[in-house]
Amino acid sequence: MTVDEKQAAKRLEQLRDEIRKHDRLYYDEATPTISDREYDRLYKQLVDLETQFPDLVTPDSPTQRVGGKPLQAFEQVPHLISMLSLDNTYSEQEVKNFHARIQRLLPNEKIPVVIEPKVDGVAVSLIYENGKLRQAATRGDGNVGDNITQNIRTIRSVPQRLRDGAPKLLEVRGEVYMDRKGFEKLNDERKKQGLPLFANPRNAAAGSLKQLDPAIVAKRPLGVVLYGTGATEGVDVDLHSEIFPLLKKLGLPTTERWWLAESVEEILDAIHELDGIRHNFAYQTDGAVVKVNSFAQRERLGFTAKSPRWAIAYKYAAERVETRLNDIIIQVGRTGILTPVAVLEPVVVSGSTVGRATLHNEDEIKRKNIRIGDTVVIEKAGEVIPAVVEVVKSKRPRGAEPFDFSKHIHGKCPVCGAPIRRDPEFVAWRCENLHCPAQTTRRVEFFAARGALDIESVGEIVADKLVERGLVREPLDLFELKVEQLAKLNLGTEEAPRVFGEKNATKAIKAIERARTLPLSRCLFAVAIPDVGKTTATQLARFHDGIEDVAHSRLLRDVLDYHEKRDQGESGKEIAERLIKAGFAKPSKSKAEKKRIVTEIGPVVAKSVLDFFASATGKNILRRLKELGIEPKSERVSAKKAAELPLAGKTFVLTGTLPSMTREEATEKIEALGGHVTGSVSKKTDYVLAGAEPGSKFDKAKQLGVPILDEAEFRKML
Ligand code: IVH
Repeated sequence: MTVDEKQAAKRLEQLRDEIRKHDRLYYDEATPTISDREYDRLYKQLVDLETQFPDLVTPDSPTQRVGGKPLQAFEQVPHLISMLSLDNTYSEQEVKNFHARIQRLLPNEKIPVVIEPKVDGVAVSLIYENGKLRQAATRGDGNVGDNITQNIRTIRSVPQRLRDGAPKLLEVRGEVYMDRKGFEKLNDERKKQGLPLFANPRNAAAGSLKQLDPAIVAKRPLGVVLYGTGATEGVDVDLHSEIFPLLKKLGLPTTERWWLAESVEEILDAIHELDGIRHNFAYQTDGAVVKVNSFAQRERLGFTAKSPRWAIAYKYAAERVETRLNDIIIQVGRTGILTPVAVLEPVVVSGSTVGRATLHNEDEIKRKNIRIGDTVVIEKAGEVIPAVVEVVKSKRPRGAEPFDFSKHIHGKCPVCGAPIRRDPEFVAWRCENLHCPAQTTRRVEFFAARGALDIESVGEIVADKLVERGLVREPLDLFELKVEQLAKLNLGTEEAPRVFGEKNATKAIKAIERARTLPLSRCLFAVAIPDVGKTTATQLARFHDGIEDVAHSRLLRDVLDYHEKRDQGESGKEIAERLIKAGFAKPSKSKAEKKRIVTEIGPVVAKSVLDFFASATGKNILRRLKELGIEPKSERVSAKKAAELPLAGKTFVLTGTLPSMTREEATEKIEALGGHVTGSVSKKTDYVLAGAEPGSKFDKAKQLGVPILDEAEFRKML
């Protein structure tokens, strides 16, 4: 090292320590001692010096928070100890039952518990080795998660290095959240850019952590609250209550309030007190978690099939507030259904501002006797779209008249003016014009949404404008858009224009191009076939070679023919055998339905799919896909391949608590290898997988001589 380098190294270390200190004061302790400008100046000095001496950049430098390149996909990493979830309840009685249960299991013992906020975020595990952040992962399926280290490093309140006294190994667990203010700001920006909005802070946090490019994550206002440990070495604590000061000492963010309690009364008091203050926290909370404080007692209480016996999560009821209903407007959905929407005097509910709420349909308005001008109670629970619960009749203004839906819309679609019809089955009015711009817009939006083709840049506003400007007349037109057309797209008004811009346009076109090669299931979901949700789309994709194959599906036709034959009193044996051979049906288990089969997809959905592709809309989609050269990839699992899976045809029954696997996990593992899980033991059962405290199924298996496996034997078998 030259003298210059030595000096630079020293200064760099000073600067880094200084910046780390201010990060801590700002994020951890909320007591900044310098202005944002001064902070930025320090930061710039560090960047400049590191640019001058690139060899002296260390991975834990504050500048390296956004060091990584975008990933192709997240690496899957196993958890050192399974990440379990908790039992949730909304009832105080169940909290009392929880207390009684632990008392019964550990009689004559004092069992102090800790009550802490249940943070409504995304569960993560952070691993520090010798004080350095080594790995961060999502919960995933509890055993294996996504490696999101790059993304977590961008969160300024997560230290890259722990303070003095760090143990050899410390895995900490908690929730990543997006702070409320940051969430609203982000959504405001997205709205301006015409991007789809996040439903709530938790979705926004989850969506951010899923980004493959850490540079994007770095711009999101994320934070973390840590509430427990996983694998550790060199950590000497016996009580949960010791964890909070320990984490704090090491510079890790934890919950700001927690309570110790022993009696049921004390527990409920703490839960109520938390409810009174939780809306002041930066993060959203949806409940309180009650945990046994002593690790020794926890160990003796153990686990049930899916969660620890030593903890319970109590969820607060959704928040309700009163506000004025200023107007009722009618929205036209993707299938032409007219939905009344309440326009509200904006109010804050559960931490975000609400200005609209769905009123579902005409009958709902009548049933709740909702009138324009009424004061209404609205409710919002975590994910749920805000809804009008009831009217405060005592506050009804004089002269408020019952809302007359038909009169309001004059028998015409409020958007395109086409005739409407009341759909008796759906209690809804429907615009019959397939080319109604509102329907087209919603279809385009749905087509591009997450879970469908996932074209992030095309949200409500962009879809609106594309249809309004005539650039898109149906969803598949998106594939013919050019960068230049999109770049010029005005998302604002004539008077206040705001163009989409070259950069956004290029990004959007890239996403659209990527959507060309998405799997068949996504495509089937995206084209919005009535009655076809994600699960059905996946099932269809597993049994067909492509979209044309679904459109003219022999299997679906067989399903319809089979049911028709049965309705006419025939056996349909030949068709049934064909369907079973294809793996698309199983013989019914019910004795009463002897010789009947159960098909993967029922006759109603089968008819809906075939009808859709026989209709003008469906035919047009097939033709356009061909013209565009788009051939969604099949996800077929051949009947042959399915039969070759190691557990093909084997039936399992689960009983009792497995030491390190939940029932769902065991079931998933069995099904992935071709086996089935059923609820009761019979002579036909191949194996019973038994854990601790098994039920009567265990005895029955013994009686019938069915082989019984424990988890270790089961794992070996896998
Ligand atoms: S303890 C083995 N503490 O809520 C139990 N979880 O609904 C480990 N959560 O799966 C979890 N705040 O993802 C714990 N203070 C808290 C929590 C918390 C939020 C999450 C966690 C859990 C879920 C249960």
